[in-house]
Amino acid sequence: MHPKRSLFPKYILTVIILLWVVTGRLCGGCNSRTKQKKFIIGFSQSGEADEWRKSMWEDMKRELSFHPEMKILYRETNDNSEKQISQVKELLTHHIDVLIISASEAAPLTPIVEKVYDSGIPVIVIDRKIASEKFTNHVGADNLQIGEMAGDYLARILKGKGRILEITGKPTSSPAIERSLGFANSIKHFPHIKISKTINGEWLESNANRILMQSPGILDSVDAVFAHNDVMGLGAYQALLELKKKKLPIVGVDALPAPAIGLKSIQTGKLVASILYPTGGKEAIRNADLLEKHKMLPKQTTLQTMVVDSTNVLTMLMQTSKIAAQQQDIERQAEMLTAQKKIYHSQQTFIYLLVSLLLLFLIVSLLLFYSRKLNRRINQELVLKNKDISRQSEQLVVMSKKAEEASEAKLNFFTKISHEFRTPLTLILSPTEDLLTNGKLPPEIKTGLNFIKKNAFRLLRLVNQLMDLRQVEFGKIRLHVSEQDVVAFCNEIILSFSAIAQKRNIDCRFITQHRSYLMWFDADILEKILFNLLSNAFKFTLDGGSILLELTVDSMQQELKFSVKDTGIGMTKQEQEKIFDLFFRANNEVVNSSGVGLNLTKELVEIHHGRILLNSQKNVGSDFSLTFPLNKNAYTNEERADHIILRDELKNLENIYTTELMPDAKNEANILVDINKNLTDKATMLIIEDNKDLQKLLQSQLQSDFEVVVEGNGRDGFNKAFDIIPDLILCDIMLPGMDGLLICRQLKKDIRTTHIPIILLTGKASEVQHLDGLKSYANAYIAKPFSMTVLKQTIETMMYNYKRVKEHYTSIGNYSYVPQEIENPPKNIGTPLTNKAPKKKSDRRFTSEFISIVEHSLHDEAFSVESICQQMNISKVQLYRKVKSLLNVNVNEYIVNARIQKAKYYLENEDLPIGDIAFKTGFTSAAYFSTVFKSKTGSTPKEYKRLSQGRG
Ligand code: FRU
Repeated sequence: MHPKRSLFPKYILTVIILLWVVTGRLCGGCNSRTKQKKFIIGFSQSGEADEWRKSMWEDMKRELSFHPEMKILYRETNDNSEKQISQVKELLTHHIDVLIISASEAAPLTPIVEKVYDSGIPVIVIDRKIASEKFTNHVGADNLQIGEMAGDYLARILKGKGRILEITGKPTSSPAIERSLGFANSIKHFPHIKISKTINGEWLESNANRILMQSPGILDSVDAVFAHNDVMGLGAYQALLELKKKKLPIVGVDALPAPAIGLKSIQTGKLVASILYPTGGKEAIRNADLLEKHKMLPKQTTLQTMVVDSTNVLTMLMQTSKIAAQQQDIERQAEMLTAQKKIYHSQQTFIYLLVSLLLLFLIVSLLLFYSRKLNRRINQELVLKNKDISRQSEQLVVMSKKAEEASEAKLNFFTKISHEFRTPLTLILSPTEDLLTNGKLPPEIKTGLNFIKKNAFRLLRLVNQLMDLRQVEFGKIRLHVSEQDVVAFCNEIILSFSAIAQKRNIDCRFITQHRSYLMWFDADILEKILFNLLSNAFKFTLDGGSILLELTVDSMQQELKFSVKDTGIGMTKQEQEKIFDLFFRANNEVVNSSGVGLNLTKELVEIHHGRILLNSQKNVGSDFSLTFPLNKNAYTNEERADHIILRDELKNLENIYTTELMPDAKNEANILVDINKNLTDKATMLIIEDNKDLQKLLQSQLQSDFEVVVEGNGRDGFNKAFDIIPDLILCDIMLPGMDGLLICRQLKKDIRTTHIPIILLTGKASEVQHLDGLKSYANAYIAKPFSMTVLKQTIETMMYNYKRVKEHYTSIGNYSYVPQEIENPPKNIGTPLTNKAPKKKSDRRFTSEFISIVEHSLHDEAFSVESICQQMNISKVQLYRKVKSLLNVNVNEYIVNARIQKAKYYLENEDLPIGDIAFKTGFTSAAYFSTVFKSKTGSTPKEYKRLSQGRG
């Protein structure tokens, strides 16, 4: 055997794992950036998307394109503080990392911004401020300075004298407040310049224009206009134009490089100047980036501002268009970069794919290489194994051929043996049957011939059954089913039992709803099955009972069902479990049974593709149910015969199965002895033997010398021995209920029965079993078949020895009333078959116990046989029998004799009045004592005393 090999060697596995890890790392690396957690910016824009704020958003987006790790959530309002507050709250739900906010109004937005800041989220305030210092950073130009620059510029172009209209942004927003303050601060320095009018344009061109159009007089009383942003300045310009008023110098804020507004309106002369107010979008994103990188941020990121007017607007425009061109270049480059990145990524993916394929190829090559190596090795092993297997299979072929030959030989042997048996049995049977036809035969001869016939058939049945079993065992029984009328078939079988049924007054019937029914079955096999079951039912059913054979057709299940039901002795659950086992005989069995029939029946049912089930109840009856398939397709083509197979053996089977069941002319019950009637002179013999015929044979041979009592069950025989205390027991070893060896051991142990000689009579002939028999203290062991002469001689010898022993025991007591002489001692008897130590000992114990009880109770006139039985714990019959067999005397007689013997002693040795002696020896009166004494000794007590004193 080779050591156990794994599919892949360890080094291949290691390489695969390494490659896997490296590839995984590479791919992991390419994905890591995209998979990184984004830095989320929440941006809350104050106003609607006007040009300036659009520009701020564009600046932010441009900057954000350099930061793919950032994500921005953009919310805008229509300068509505309430709406902005709720938007900030909503942004917080997205777990933003930083808040960028341009507060539409300073005061209302302050609490929510403070809250955000306090919660640990950094806040970048852009352009419009809040009314608190609770923010991280502010990005924006200095609006105070912007107001001052505008004031300074207008004062200059008005040459220090004039009236100015100020159009403010929303007065609650921080730029409007600061710009106004800066402007006022500047104008303060010019005493001839006045802010003649201030209107609220709310940052919108339309508002400024509408107010001025509604109050055109305002424009009449001013020399210049300062608008807080360019668009409101353009609103004023438009009003002047529409009202056809004189052109006024207008200064705005923002100087946005957008078409039509900002720088363009300076270039076209609509605005005289504008103060640059950068959006700060780019700076805000940069600051957020610093925050993401946990870098320090100044509280204020101030954006540069300047005045743009006709002197520098061109330069500005050029610069901004240059910047715009550069910006476009940058954007193009960025696009190209993105495209390049895409190419790079797809190339990268392709490379990874290629590398993976390469690795796969490498792994597959390694596996292929290894599996080829492995295959070669396995092939070599397989070649070796194949050689081994073919060698073994050759051996198997040889062995199975030998086994086949052996079983063939065995079967031949059995076939031959069975023929050897059948021939002489037939030769016994035919003259016996011939002789039986003679009507003038004397009854004893007829009984004997019937006896021979019955047993010859029984033997024939057993031989046949054993042959069938052998054939089953060697698979030689083949099914030959043909389509026949199963009802007619059953009628014929039940008819075979009708004579016995009538004789035994058994209600034996075949029950079916069908007048005829065609089905496929093997008549020979089914016949054996039914004969077996019916004869079995007859064996166990008492006279007057019932045996029913029932046939039903279950068309649903496509099954044919038989039931053989009896009202016999039934079986216990334990017996039912083993009833189909070979050689099993139920314990309660009182009839001859070999334990072959039911086992054979089951085998035959199974060969016929059927099932057999038993349902039985002790002392109620048994029901064997059989189920066979109805469909002929249940049988193979080989099993189906194309013609009806007729059976020719019915007559034989009928004889074989029924002869034994026929009751004898003489009622067996009559020959059993009534023990109560016959406790007389003849010795009693108990025969425990289950074979009815042997029982009868022994009984007929021995009843002239013995009162014979017969028991067929071991347990019953054992109990009977105690009931009747026989003089001899003849016992079989193989018995239902209790085996002979155990019966022998138990009887020999018990003081009441230990004296009884036991002869074991058995078919077991081996030396070991013989020894077993003797070890159980049997007095003799006779093996079957035995000669009746030897048996009778053994019994006679045993009875002789028994008498001798009895004499020996009787010498124990003080009073011996047992005759000493032995009548006609047999000559030339063999070795005595008796006297085992325990028997002697226990019999002695019994005798001395009995004598001592009598001795100590003699003075008691109420002393009786019953009180001895009580003290010795045995029955009256047992006491009588035991005392009779050991002391050969009647118990009452023994007591009277003992009393007389004691009285003699008193008369000889003590000087007591006769009345006292009578009292001391248990007589009720002196007169009764004298009568009994005279009848036993021939003289009165007085005479006896005188005579003995004279002798003395
Ligand atoms: C845009 C705007 C700009 C001005 C800024 C002040 O909405 O009115 O014109 O400079 O807001 O916050």
